[in-house]
Amino acid sequence: MLKSIKKGIALLLSSALVFALAGCSGAAGGKRIIRISHSQSETHPQHLGLVEFEKYVESKLGDKYDVQIFPNELLGPSVKAIELVQTGAIDFAIASTGNLETFDNIYQVFSIPYLFDSVEAYHKVMEDKELMNSIYKSTAAAGFEAVTWFDAGTRNFYAKTPIKTPKDLKGKKIRVQQSPTNVKMMQAFGAAAAPMSFGEVYTAIQSGVIDGGENNELALTNNKHGEVAKYYTYNQHQMVPDLLIGNLKFLNGLSPEERQVFDEAAELATKVEREQWSVATNKAIEQAKEMGVQFIETDVQAFKQKVLPLHKELLSENPKLKPIYDKIQEVNKEVKEMK
Ligand code: GCU
Repeated sequence: MLKSIKKGIALLLSSALVFALAGCSGAAGGKRIIRISHSQSETHPQHLGLVEFEKYVESKLGDKYDVQIFPNELLGPSVKAIELVQTGAIDFAIASTGNLETFDNIYQVFSIPYLFDSVEAYHKVMEDKELMNSIYKSTAAAGFEAVTWFDAGTRNFYAKTPIKTPKDLKGKKIRVQQSPTNVKMMQAFGAAAAPMSFGEVYTAIQSGVIDGGENNELALTNNKHGEVAKYYTYNQHQMVPDLLIGNLKFLNGLSPEERQVFDEAAELATKVEREQWSVATNKAIEQAKEMGVQFIETDVQAFKQKVLPLHKELLSENPKLKPIYDKIQEVNKEVKEMK
């Protein structure tokens, strides 16, 4: 009962917010307000990247645009924020490709577990502008497209009890993003998948609704999950990027000169975020240790074997993935040979 009242209030609040956002049509003192939503705290590398985006746009076009960043899921959880970008109630949001999957299934590709053989291969693929631009445009029919990417590290399991081998996942309920492929992956690992938004994870672990989650190390500190889950296992199942998505009508309404400024700002945001990423990750590991989190090294191959059959299954279900998958395999090979 209490839960449904709370949900009702949240819903009311969010519809009031959308109404308010739509009502003021984004103009303040003659300036067009640009609203950007993301799920992380203000110390997270993505927020720092967006601050540079804001500064850059305002340094070039400050008489016309006022960029405002809304962190911490303030405008709603990620899927909701994507919908707000879709309708144009807000202009930009950072979204994980996991959460973009239901808007265009091309994004399933990044949810394939053990897709990239190394961080180098992952970065090389993400830096391939030709490949990525074609993927970025795939959601045009849905009313938005991606303009750049942000590193979101490597995803690993964390839980209330240690996960040392895949056997330890049996009978466990693990949170996944709201993505059908991630649900499949979790089932293939032998655990029960609990899809939910990122902001719900802390309470769900704390109250015992789920046993754990899977994410990069920053989830332990920036999102405080290390307070309630003390074991983090380096099984390295995914490298899932975050994308900065923008409302298409807004982007298409910019003059070529303005669009260039926004593109340069996006590139700068990515540069800053990536420079901050490893620094922030190392800091998160130290902080998590101080919180009492134990980091567990494991036999990655044992985890990989459990989910490898998914590659074939997903590629046959969605033939669109094949050319991108093949390209990624080529990059995996190239990087391996260079080492
Ligand atoms: C990471 C990622 C977010 C994503 C979150 C999640 O933190 O950066 O964009 O929403 O994982 O698991 O939902």
